[in-house]
Amino acid sequence: MKIAIFNGSPRKVNTAAMVQAFSEGAKAAGHEVEEYHVGKMKIAGCLGCEYCHTKGEGTCVQKDDFEKLLPAYKEADMVVFASPIYYFTMTAQMQAAIQRVYCIGKPLKAKKAALLLSAASPGSHEGSITQFKAYMAYANIEVAGIITASGEENKSDAKMNEIKEFAKGL
Ligand SMILES: Cc1cc2nc3c(=O)[nH]c(=O)nc-3n(C[C@H](O)[C@H](O)[C@H](O)COP(=O)(O)O)c2cc1C
Repeated sequence: MKIAIFNGSPRKVNTAAMVQAFSEGAKAAGHEVEEYHVGKMKIAGCLGCEYCHTKGEGTCVQKDDFEKLLPAYKEADMVVFASPIYYFTMTAQMQAAIQRVYCIGKPLKAKKAALLLSAASPGSHEGSITQFKAYMAYANIEVAGIITASGEENKSDAKMNEIKEFAKGL
């Protein structure tokens, strides 16, 4: 499978460790993995201007780093969203990357998806999980797995192994 991982963290610390573990496991299982460091990109929010659904014919009127993600949204067999929790949701950069897919409606080929979330406290992931499940149900994409880490679980061997094994089993 061609797997696209979107990492919403602006840093390379806890979420990056989850992404690396996933990537190692998926590559070991023979999958083709591409990582997109969304948290470091400049992606504006959707304007809702409908240019993409009229004159733009599937292209966005805003020219920014979202253009780097669009091929992955069109071609990946699996999409993985990885993000730290900022105020009980995924980062603003990740939300922009999710919502700008409006120009094509939804990931076009993806049949599977996964969510990797890093937070400080255990009670902080629920909003993002609800959003992710609703989005995938809307897009008709199977949720293959949701893995959360909080506090000391971040970067722990146990959590990294859990993620690696999950990815190996895809
Ligand atoms: C602006 C900001 C908001 C945060 N909000 C939350 C939160 O609501 N709940 C929580 O448990 N952790 C929160 N955190 C902590 C991060 O989710 C946590 O440190 C995470 O592991 C960071 O991942 P990273 O190393 O990939 O950036 C917040 C951190 C920042 C910088």
